[in-house]
Parts: sequence; C-alpha cells; structure tokens
Amino acid sequence: MRVWIIGSYGIVSTTAMVGAKNLEYGYDDYTGLVSELPHFQDLKNHFSSHFEFGGHEIRMKKNAYDAAIEHWNLNRHFDFKLLENVREDLEAIEAKTGTALNCGSGLNELGEIKTLENGSLSLREIADILISDMREFANEETVVINTASTEPLPNYKDEYHGTLDGFERALDENKTEYISASMLYAYASLKLGIPYANFTPSAGSSIPALKELARVNKTPHAGNDGKTGETLVKTTLAPMFAYRNLKVLGWMGYNILGDFDGKVLSHKDNKESKVVSKDSVLEKILGESPYSITEIEYFPSLADNKTAFDFIHFKGFLGTAMKFYFIWDAIDAIVAAPLIIDLARFLLFAKKKGQFGVVKELGFFFKSPMETNIVNTHKQFEILYQWYQELK
Ligand SMILES: NC(=O)c1ccc[n+]([C@@H]2O[C@H](COP(=O)([O-])OP(=O)(O)OC[C@H]3O[C@@H](n4cnc5c(N)ncnc54)[C@H](O)[C@@H]3O)[C@@H](O)[C@H]2O)c1
Repeated sequence: MRVWIIGSYGIVSTTAMVGAKNLEYGYDDYTGLVSELPHFQDLKNHFSSHFEFGGHEIRMKKNAYDAAIEHWNLNRHFDFKLLENVREDLEAIEAKTGTALNCGSGLNELGEIKTLENGSLSLREIADILISDMREFANEETVVINTASTEPLPNYKDEYHGTLDGFERALDENKTEYISASMLYAYASLKLGIPYANFTPSAGSSIPALKELARVNKTPHAGNDGKTGETLVKTTLAPMFAYRNLKVLGWMGYNILGDFDGKVLSHKDNKESKVVSKDSVLEKILGESPYSITEIEYFPSLADNKTAFDFIHFKGFLGTAMKFYFIWDAIDAIVAAPLIIDLARFLLFAKKKGQFGVVKELGFFFKSPMETNIVNTHKQFEILYQWYQELK
C-alpha cells in the first residue's frame, strides 16, 4: 500500500514509517497494532504488504531518514537496529513542499520552513500543486494521513465552508483568510478519490464542504485527532463512573510534553484546538459536563515522553466525596505510530467495501470522532468490530 503523510518528517510519521517497513521485512512483534488483533483477522491480507511512503512537509530535511535520526537522537524511543534496518528505504523518501496557510504562530518554533505560498501562489495554484503531487504518487491502494502540527481553530464562514461550491469559490477568489493548510490537503486527497484520515485536531476534512466532496467522489474519510494517551484513558475510565452511578464532580487533566509538538502547542492559538478536542469527551459520556480543567504545557526536557496527571473528584453513596488519580507516562509517537498503519488498513478496507463519506465506525481511533457522540472506548471498539464482521 502507499501512504502519503502530511507532516512526513514529524516523529509520529517517521516512527510509523520505521514500523511499517520493519513489519514488511518480517519483524513479527505486532504489539500496539489494533489491525493485528484476532478480531480483525485477514484485514491486512486484503492489501499488498509492501509499504511505500511519500508526503508533504514544510521543514526541509534531506529525507525521512534525516528526520527520523533527529527524532531518534532526542528520544531513543526504539531499538536503533530497527532504524538502521530500513535506513535505505527512509533515505529514498523525500517529501514535497507543502503549504502552511493559517497554521498559527506555533510554526515559528519549527525553525526554517519552506512553503508553497512563499512563492506567492494563489489558493487555486497551491491546491493544484498538492493534487498533482498526490496524483503522481498514488495508485489504487493509497491513503492520505494528516500528521502535521496542530493548526488553530479555523475562521469558519458558512459561505465558503458550508458547501463544495462555496469552497471552490473561495479557492477561485483567493479567500486566503478562510482556508487552512489542512483543508487544502484534505481537498486534494478527496478530489482525487483517495481515502483520507485526519490524525490531528485541525479542521481537515471535517467542514461540510469537504464532507460533501467525499460523498460526491465516493471516498471514505475519518478523523479527528488520534486518541492515544490521556484521552484514551479518560474515555475508557469515565464510563465506569457512569455505570456505577457515581457522580463526577470535577476532572483535571494536566499534560506536559516537549518536542516539536509540545513547542507548537505552547502557542495559545495552536493549543486551543487541542484543548477543545480533549475537553469535549466527558459530557458525551457522562451526559453532563463536570467542572473540568485541561492544561497542556511545554516541558522541553521530556521530549516526546508525554506525561499526563489526572485528578478526578467524585461523589458516591450518602453524598460522600472521594478521589481518584492516574498518571499516564508514554512516548507519544510509540502510541500513535501503529494507529497510522491501522488507519491506512481500515480506510483501504472501507474503500474496497464501497464505503464512502465519514466512516463513523473508525471513531475508535479518534478523540473527536466525526458525526457521532459515541466516545466511550468500549462501545467504539464493539462498533468497529461489528462493522468489520459485517463487511468482511
Ligand atoms: N500521540 C501522539 O503523538 C498524537 C496523538 C494525537 C494527535 N497527534 C497530532 O499529530 C500531529 C503530529 O504529531 P508529532 O508528535 O509527530 O509532531 P511533530 O512536530 O513531530 O511533526 C509534525 C510535522 O508536521 C510538519 N508540518 C507542520 N505544519 C505542516 C504543514 N502545514 N504542512 C506539512 N507539514 C507540516 C512539521 O514540520 C513536523 O515535521 C500533531 O498535530 C499532534 O497533535 C499526535
């Protein structure tokens, strides 16, 4: 299969590339891959086991190996041999220049960047270049996955985001203030009929105009924002309080992380989308919104070792208040990277089975799943399993 990754030189992306290529060469530890569970037996057999990667970037490294080694030196997040095994494959992956339109002040943290709009191209011209890059790479077994840095909340305007016609008009009239990079990438992918997943909280394909494009072009898509850490634990534990009729009085989640992701999220405009994405799950599970604090702070020395401290205050029988605490201490890219492979497999499976539009059944993988209020991890897993059983 071919996977086009937006943000190809990021740590999630390069870790996914290292994992996928090692699997292709016979590495047989499937831990962390949902698609390798017995529940989804045969899923991977629908596609070629050969992985090819390409993508768009704005940090100009030499190639994906150059980016991967930079992340590895900071994090040493897996056995170095696994990187060296696939060195040549990664050296052959050279990202195309992308767009950083309306990506917020956080991008100043990425160092020197190069973007298509530096060359003062119009929106339509940028979209055409993205489309042509993806077209050149794609075959029948291709997916696009967005793992670029988190953008600020979009400047939503129904006139341009509400319908496909409106979106096309915004491109033709060069309405740059309303269109963000993640929308342009999603547009390019869906325009070509390539399944698309948004692993970030950025708008991506979630605006009505692009959902319409996915339906018109009969293309499956899914998002938003990979559910990999604190929110995964939160949406797995919160149902327990609901099932036992315990009242959650308040929930505090305090996240600290370093690395590029942490640096970008230290900017208020970029952080806002992430906080909204993390914050909205409790109400959906508990039926009411308890007092909640969600903080994300940059902590340089941790690099990709994200740590979340959660404190839950709850009330039980006879009105007695009690407390529950947990700490999630994980390497962010290690919990995220296998999901990139999973999403590629499940989306291609959806395409093969004629599914199109938002594939709600893939909500299991996301913090803010599109078009469903089900965020309870247990229910989401059941839904994914049933969906697979019915279609396979
Ligand atoms: N567990 C996780 O790591 C996890 C979970 C959920 C969501 N996410 C999201 O996934 C994304 C990637 O995380 P990461 O840790 O790999 O971050 P990262 O900073 O290592 O990688 C992001 C990459 O995207 C590139 N980029 C930024 N803007 C771009 C643009 N407009 N076009 C093309 N490339 C662009 C950057 O140069 C960088 O190489 C972030 O948005 C993060 O919030 C990560």
